[in-house]
Amino acid sequence: MSGLKDGLLAGKVAFVAGGSSGINLGIAQHFARAGAKVALISRSPEKIAAAAKTITDEGFEAIGLAADVRDYAAVEAALRQTHDQFGKIDVVLSGAAGNFVAPALGMSANGFKTVVDIDLIGTFNVLRASYEFLNRPGASLISITAGQAVRPAMFQAHVCAAKAGINMLTKCLAMEWGPAGVRVNAISPGPIADTEGMRRLAPTPEDEARIKGRITLRDYGTKTDIAEAALYLSSDSAKYITGTILNVDGGSELGDASGSAVMG
Ligand code: NAP
Ligand code: COA
Repeated sequence: MSGLKDGLLAGKVAFVAGGSSGINLGIAQHFARAGAKVALISRSPEKIAAAAKTITDEGFEAIGLAADVRDYAAVEAALRQTHDQFGKIDVVLSGAAGNFVAPALGMSANGFKTVVDIDLIGTFNVLRASYEFLNRPGASLISITAGQAVRPAMFQAHVCAAKAGINMLTKCLAMEWGPAGVRVNAISPGPIADTEGMRRLAPTPEDEARIKGRITLRDYGTKTDIAEAALYLSSDSAKYITGTILNVDGGSELGDASGSAVMG
Protein backbone atom coordinates (compact mmCIF):
# COMPACT_ATOMS: atom_id res chain seq x y z
CA MET A 1 0.00 0.00 0.00
CA SER A 2 1.35 3.45 -0.81
CA GLY A 3 0.07 6.96 -0.44
CA LEU A 4 0.50 10.27 1.32
CA LYS A 5 0.79 8.57 4.68
CA ASP A 6 3.90 6.62 3.72
CA GLY A 7 6.59 7.44 6.24
CA LEU A 8 4.38 9.59 8.50
CA LEU A 9 5.51 7.48 11.47
CA ALA A 10 8.87 6.38 10.04
CA GLY A 11 11.29 5.32 12.77
CA LYS A 12 8.60 5.53 15.45
CA VAL A 13 7.39 2.91 17.90
CA ALA A 14 3.71 2.38 18.67
CA PHE A 15 2.08 0.36 21.49
CA VAL A 16 -1.56 -0.65 20.98
CA ALA A 17 -3.57 -2.02 23.92
CA GLY A 18 -6.58 -4.12 22.95
CA GLY A 19 -5.09 -4.62 19.52
CA SER A 20 -6.16 -8.16 18.68
CA SER A 21 -9.27 -7.22 16.70
CA GLY A 22 -11.64 -4.59 15.38
CA ILE A 23 -10.97 -0.88 15.50
CA ASN A 24 -7.72 -1.15 17.45
CA LEU A 25 -6.19 -3.73 15.11
CA GLY A 26 -7.16 -1.47 12.19
CA ILE A 27 -5.29 1.37 13.90
CA ALA A 28 -2.23 -0.82 14.53
CA GLN A 29 -2.17 -1.87 10.88
CA HIS A 30 -2.29 1.79 9.78
CA PHE A 31 0.50 2.71 12.20
CA ALA A 32 2.66 -0.05 10.69
CA ARG A 33 1.90 1.02 7.11
CA ALA A 34 2.93 4.56 8.08
CA GLY A 35 6.34 3.26 9.16
CA ALA A 36 6.02 2.49 12.89
CA LYS A 37 7.19 -0.66 14.62
CA VAL A 38 4.12 -1.86 16.47
CA ALA A 39 3.59 -3.82 19.70
CA LEU A 40 0.10 -5.11 20.43
CA ILE A 41 -1.37 -6.47 23.64
CA SER A 42 -4.60 -8.26 24.55
CA ARG A 43 -5.68 -11.05 26.89
CA SER A 44 -5.61 -13.93 24.45
CA PRO A 45 -2.13 -15.18 23.43
CA GLU A 46 -3.60 -16.80 20.29
CA LYS A 47 -5.59 -13.77 19.16
CA ILE A 48 -2.77 -11.31 19.74
CA ALA A 49 -0.23 -13.51 17.93
CA ALA A 50 -2.59 -13.77 14.96
CA ALA A 51 -3.12 -10.00 14.98
CA ALA A 52 0.62 -9.30 14.95
CA LYS A 53 0.98 -11.78 12.10
CA THR A 54 -1.45 -9.77 9.94
CA ILE A 55 1.10 -6.96 10.20
CA THR A 56 4.30 -8.97 9.73
CA ASP A 57 2.64 -10.71 6.75
CA GLU A 58 2.51 -7.26 5.11
CA GLY A 59 6.28 -6.99 5.63
CA PHE A 60 6.23 -4.68 8.66
CA GLU A 61 7.63 -5.14 12.19
CA ALA A 62 5.21 -6.15 14.94
CA ILE A 63 5.05 -8.17 18.15
CA GLY A 64 1.97 -9.50 19.92
CA LEU A 65 2.11 -9.90 23.71
CA ALA A 66 -0.51 -11.34 26.05
CA ALA A 67 -1.39 -8.92 28.85
CA ASP A 68 -4.62 -8.01 30.62
CA VAL A 69 -4.95 -4.23 31.01
CA ARG A 70 -6.44 -4.83 34.48
CA ASP A 71 -3.04 -6.19 35.57
CA TYR A 72 -0.66 -3.23 36.00
CA ALA A 73 2.44 -5.42 36.31
CA ALA A 74 1.59 -7.31 33.13
CA VAL A 75 1.05 -4.06 31.21
CA GLU A 76 4.34 -2.68 32.52
CA ALA A 77 6.18 -5.87 31.52
CA ALA A 78 4.77 -5.65 27.98
CA LEU A 79 5.81 -2.00 27.72
CA ARG A 80 9.30 -2.87 28.97
CA GLN A 81 9.62 -5.66 26.42
CA THR A 82 8.47 -3.29 23.67
CA HIS A 83 11.02 -0.70 24.78
CA ASP A 84 13.84 -3.27 24.99
CA GLN A 85 13.02 -4.70 21.55
CA PHE A 86 12.05 -1.57 19.58
CA GLY A 87 13.32 1.41 21.62
CA LYS A 88 11.53 4.37 23.20
CA ILE A 89 7.79 4.48 22.58
CA ASP A 90 6.38 7.39 20.57
CA VAL A 91 2.70 6.48 20.32
CA VAL A 92 0.43 4.70 22.81
CA LEU A 93 -3.11 3.69 21.87
CA SER A 94 -5.35 2.54 24.73
CA GLY A 95 -8.43 0.84 23.31
CA ALA A 96 -9.14 -2.33 25.29
CA ALA A 97 -12.79 -2.48 26.26
CA GLY A 98 -15.68 -4.71 27.18
CA ASN A 99 -19.40 -4.22 26.66
CA PHE A 100 -22.67 -6.05 27.07
CA VAL A 101 -26.22 -4.82 26.97
CA ALA A 102 -27.90 -5.06 30.37
CA PRO A 103 -30.12 -2.96 32.60
CA ALA A 104 -28.49 -1.84 35.84
CA LEU A 105 -30.82 -4.17 37.75
CA GLY A 106 -29.70 -7.06 35.54
CA MET A 107 -26.06 -6.37 36.26
CA SER A 108 -24.19 -7.58 39.34
CA ALA A 109 -21.73 -5.31 41.11
CA ASN A 110 -19.02 -7.41 39.52
CA GLY A 111 -20.54 -6.95 36.05
CA PHE A 112 -20.41 -3.16 36.45
CA LYS A 113 -16.91 -3.32 37.95
CA THR A 114 -15.61 -5.55 35.17
CA VAL A 115 -16.31 -2.98 32.46
CA VAL A 116 -15.02 -0.07 34.56
CA ASP A 117 -11.89 -2.11 35.32
CA ILE A 118 -11.17 -2.88 31.66
CA ASP A 119 -12.12 0.45 30.10
CA LEU A 120 -11.25 3.09 32.70
CA ILE A 121 -8.77 1.51 35.12
CA GLY A 122 -7.19 -0.33 32.18
CA THR A 123 -6.70 2.98 30.36
CA PHE A 124 -5.14 4.53 33.45
CA ASN A 125 -2.82 1.51 33.76
CA VAL A 126 -1.72 1.67 30.12
CA LEU A 127 -1.11 5.43 30.09
CA ARG A 128 0.46 5.58 33.57
CA ALA A 129 2.78 2.63 32.97
CA SER A 130 3.81 3.91 29.54
CA TYR A 131 5.20 7.21 30.84
CA GLU A 132 8.55 5.74 31.88
CA PHE A 133 9.12 4.31 28.40
CA LEU A 134 8.04 7.30 26.30
CA ASN A 135 10.18 9.19 23.86
CA ARG A 136 9.71 12.60 25.48
CA PRO A 137 9.09 15.30 24.28
CA GLY A 138 6.91 14.47 21.30
CA ALA A 139 5.07 11.37 22.50
CA SER A 140 1.37 11.03 21.66
CA LEU A 141 -1.06 9.09 23.86
CA ILE A 142 -4.52 8.29 22.45
CA SER A 143 -7.42 6.58 24.18
CA ILE A 144 -10.55 5.22 22.57
CA THR A 145 -13.67 6.54 24.23
CA ALA A 146 -17.28 6.45 22.96
CA GLY A 147 -20.39 8.58 22.60
CA GLN A 148 -21.73 6.94 25.78
CA ALA A 149 -19.28 9.18 27.65
CA VAL A 150 -21.43 12.23 26.95
CA ARG A 151 -24.84 10.80 25.98
CA PRO A 152 -26.58 8.67 28.60
CA ALA A 153 -27.96 5.40 27.25
CA MET A 154 -30.24 2.79 28.77
CA PHE A 155 -28.61 -0.60 29.46
CA GLN A 156 -25.17 0.99 29.16
CA ALA A 157 -24.65 2.38 32.70
CA HIS A 158 -21.30 0.61 33.05
CA VAL A 159 -19.97 1.80 29.67
CA CYS A 160 -21.31 5.35 30.09
CA ALA A 161 -19.61 5.66 33.48
CA ALA A 162 -16.33 4.12 32.30
CA LYS A 163 -16.04 6.10 29.07
CA ALA A 164 -16.99 9.38 30.82
CA GLY A 165 -14.08 8.64 33.15
CA ILE A 166 -11.76 8.17 30.16
CA ASN A 167 -12.74 11.60 28.80
CA MET A 168 -11.87 13.31 32.08
CA LEU A 169 -8.71 11.23 32.55
CA THR A 170 -7.60 12.35 29.07
CA LYS A 171 -7.92 16.00 30.03
CA CYS A 172 -6.26 15.64 33.44
CA LEU A 173 -3.26 13.73 32.06
CA ALA A 174 -2.97 16.20 29.18
CA MET A 175 -2.55 19.01 31.73
CA GLU A 176 -0.09 17.10 33.90
CA TRP A 177 2.10 15.73 31.11
CA GLY A 178 1.87 18.55 28.56
CA PRO A 179 4.76 20.50 30.10
CA ALA A 180 6.99 17.47 29.38
CA GLY A 181 5.91 17.47 25.74
CA VAL A 182 3.53 14.53 26.02
CA ARG A 183 0.20 14.98 24.25
CA VAL A 184 -2.87 13.13 25.54
CA ASN A 185 -6.02 12.88 23.42
CA ALA A 186 -8.95 10.56 22.82
CA ILE A 187 -10.98 9.51 19.81
CA SER A 188 -14.72 8.98 20.14
CA PRO A 189 -15.89 6.69 17.33
CA GLY A 190 -19.50 6.58 16.28
CA PRO A 191 -21.02 3.25 15.29
CA ILE A 192 -18.36 1.43 13.25
CA ALA A 193 -19.24 -1.28 10.72
CA ASP A 194 -18.04 -4.85 11.11
CA THR A 195 -17.02 -4.63 14.76
CA GLU A 196 -17.72 -6.63 17.88
CA GLY A 197 -19.06 -3.49 19.52
CA MET A 198 -21.84 -3.07 16.97
CA ARG A 199 -22.55 -6.81 16.86
CA ARG A 200 -23.38 -6.50 20.57
CA LEU A 201 -25.25 -3.18 20.43
CA ALA A 202 -27.17 -3.66 17.17
CA PRO A 203 -27.33 -7.37 16.36
CA THR A 204 -30.17 -7.31 13.79
CA PRO A 205 -30.54 -5.55 10.40
CA GLU A 206 -33.54 -3.71 11.89
CA ASP A 207 -31.38 -2.35 14.73
CA GLU A 208 -28.78 -1.24 12.20
CA ALA A 209 -31.30 0.55 9.97
CA ARG A 210 -32.84 2.32 12.97
CA ILE A 211 -29.45 3.57 14.18
CA LYS A 212 -28.34 4.71 10.72
CA GLY A 213 -31.59 6.67 10.35
CA ARG A 214 -30.69 8.72 13.41
CA ILE A 215 -27.09 9.55 12.42
CA THR A 216 -26.56 12.90 10.70
CA LEU A 217 -24.39 11.32 7.98
CA ARG A 218 -26.83 8.37 7.75
CA ASP A 219 -24.22 5.57 7.83
CA TYR A 220 -21.85 3.62 10.06
CA GLY A 221 -18.20 4.63 9.95
CA THR A 222 -15.36 2.32 8.96
CA LYS A 223 -12.31 1.09 10.85
CA THR A 224 -10.25 3.12 8.39
CA ASP A 225 -12.05 6.32 9.45
CA ILE A 226 -10.85 5.77 13.01
CA ALA A 227 -7.36 4.68 11.98
CA GLU A 228 -6.91 7.84 9.89
CA ALA A 229 -7.84 9.97 12.91
CA ALA A 230 -5.40 8.04 15.12
CA LEU A 231 -2.68 8.48 12.54
CA TYR A 232 -3.28 12.22 12.50
CA LEU A 233 -3.23 12.56 16.30
CA SER A 234 -0.07 10.45 16.51
CA SER A 235 1.79 12.51 13.92
CA ASP A 236 3.61 15.82 14.19
CA SER A 237 0.75 17.38 12.19
CA ALA A 238 -1.16 17.35 15.49
CA LYS A 239 1.74 18.65 17.58
CA TYR A 240 -0.35 21.50 19.06
CA ILE A 241 -3.34 19.32 19.95
CA THR A 242 -3.76 17.95 23.46
CA GLY A 243 -6.64 17.29 25.86
CA THR A 244 -9.03 16.86 22.94
CA ILE A 245 -11.82 14.35 22.47
CA LEU A 246 -11.97 13.95 18.68
CA ASN A 247 -15.40 12.79 17.52
CA VAL A 248 -15.24 10.56 14.45
CA ASP A 249 -18.90 9.74 14.54
CA GLY A 250 -20.79 11.00 11.48
CA GLY A 251 -22.34 13.68 13.66
CA SER A 252 -23.73 11.22 16.21
CA GLU A 253 -22.93 13.49 19.11
CA LEU A 254 -25.22 16.16 17.66
CA GLY A 255 -28.13 13.98 18.65
CA ASP A 256 -31.01 12.24 16.92
CA ALA A 257 -31.10 13.55 13.32
CA SER A 258 -34.02 11.39 12.21
CA GLY A 259 -36.44 14.28 12.41
CA SER A 260 -38.54 12.43 14.95
CA ALA A 261 -37.72 14.96 17.66
CA VAL A 262 -39.23 17.70 15.49
CA MET A 263 -42.11 15.60 14.16
CA GLY A 264 -43.04 14.41 17.65
P1 NAP B 1 -13.22 -5.54 19.89
O1 NAP B 1 -12.87 -6.02 18.52
O2 NAP B 1 -13.92 -6.49 20.81
O3 NAP B 1 -11.89 -4.98 20.57
C1 NAP B 1 -11.66 -5.05 21.96
C2 NAP B 1 -10.22 -5.43 22.15
O4 NAP B 1 -9.90 -5.33 23.54
C3 NAP B 1 -9.91 -6.85 21.73
O5 NAP B 1 -8.65 -6.82 21.09
C4 NAP B 1 -9.79 -7.62 23.06
O6 NAP B 1 -8.88 -8.70 22.87
C5 NAP B 1 -9.23 -6.51 23.95
N1 NAP B 1 -9.50 -6.67 25.37
C6 NAP B 1 -10.69 -6.86 25.99
N2 NAP B 1 -10.51 -6.94 27.31
C7 NAP B 1 -9.18 -6.79 27.53
C8 NAP B 1 -8.37 -6.76 28.70
N3 NAP B 1 -8.92 -6.92 29.93
N4 NAP B 1 -7.04 -6.59 28.56
C9 NAP B 1 -6.47 -6.44 27.34
N5 NAP B 1 -7.18 -6.45 26.20
C10 NAP B 1 -8.53 -6.62 26.30
O7 NAP B 1 -14.16 -4.24 19.84
P2 NAP B 1 -14.35 -2.96 18.88
O8 NAP B 1 -15.80 -2.87 18.62
O9 NAP B 1 -13.39 -2.94 17.76
O10 NAP B 1 -14.00 -1.79 19.92
C11 NAP B 1 -12.69 -1.25 20.05
C12 NAP B 1 -12.72 0.03 20.86
O11 NAP B 1 -13.56 1.00 20.20
C13 NAP B 1 -13.28 -0.10 22.26
O12 NAP B 1 -12.58 0.78 23.13
C14 NAP B 1 -14.71 0.36 22.11
O13 NAP B 1 -15.28 0.81 23.32
C15 NAP B 1 -14.52 1.48 21.12
N6 NAP B 1 -15.73 1.87 20.38
C16 NAP B 1 -16.25 0.99 19.49
C17 NAP B 1 -17.34 1.37 18.72
C18 NAP B 1 -17.91 0.45 17.69
O14 NAP B 1 -18.77 0.88 16.88
N7 NAP B 1 -17.47 -0.80 17.60
C19 NAP B 1 -17.93 2.64 18.90
C20 NAP B 1 -17.37 3.51 19.86
C21 NAP B 1 -16.26 3.10 20.59
P3 NAP B 1 -8.83 -10.04 23.80
O15 NAP B 1 -10.22 -10.62 23.77
O16 NAP B 1 -7.79 -10.88 23.16
O17 NAP B 1 -8.42 -9.56 25.14
N1 COA C 1 -25.34 -9.28 31.31
C1 COA C 1 -25.14 -9.09 32.62
N2 COA C 1 -23.96 -9.38 33.25
C2 COA C 1 -22.96 -9.85 32.48
C3 COA C 1 -23.10 -10.06 31.09
C4 COA C 1 -24.37 -9.75 30.50
N3 COA C 1 -24.59 -9.93 29.19
N4 COA C 1 -21.93 -10.55 30.60
C5 COA C 1 -21.09 -10.64 31.65
N5 COA C 1 -21.71 -10.23 32.79
C6 COA C 1 -21.16 -10.23 34.13
C7 COA C 1 -20.86 -11.65 34.59
O1 COA C 1 -22.03 -12.30 35.03
C8 COA C 1 -19.86 -11.39 35.71
O2 COA C 1 -20.49 -11.00 36.89
P1 COA C 1 -20.71 -12.07 38.13
O3 COA C 1 -19.33 -12.54 38.51
O4 COA C 1 -21.39 -11.28 39.19
O5 COA C 1 -21.55 -13.17 37.57
C9 COA C 1 -19.10 -10.18 35.20
O6 COA C 1 -19.91 -9.57 34.18
C10 COA C 1 -17.75 -10.55 34.61
O7 COA C 1 -17.97 -11.54 33.60
P2 COA C 1 -16.75 -12.42 33.06
O8 COA C 1 -17.27 -13.24 31.92
O9 COA C 1 -16.08 -13.13 34.19
O10 COA C 1 -15.76 -11.26 32.58
P3 COA C 1 -14.48 -11.32 31.65
O11 COA C 1 -13.51 -10.42 32.29
O12 COA C 1 -14.11 -12.70 31.28
O13 COA C 1 -15.06 -10.65 30.26
C11 COA C 1 -16.69 -9.06 29.39
C12 COA C 1 -15.39 -9.29 30.17
C13 COA C 1 -17.87 -9.51 30.24
C14 COA C 1 -16.80 -7.56 29.16
C15 COA C 1 -16.73 -9.85 28.05
O14 COA C 1 -17.93 -9.57 27.37
C16 COA C 1 -15.54 -9.54 27.15
O15 COA C 1 -14.51 -10.18 27.27
N6 COA C 1 -15.66 -8.53 26.23
C17 COA C 1 -14.57 -8.13 25.31
C18 COA C 1 -15.07 -7.91 23.91
C19 COA C 1 -16.07 -6.79 23.82
O16 COA C 1 -16.88 -6.57 24.72
N7 COA C 1 -16.00 -6.06 22.71
C20 COA C 1 -16.80 -4.89 22.48
C21 COA C 1 -16.01 -3.68 22.90
S1 COA C 1 -17.04 -2.24 22.74
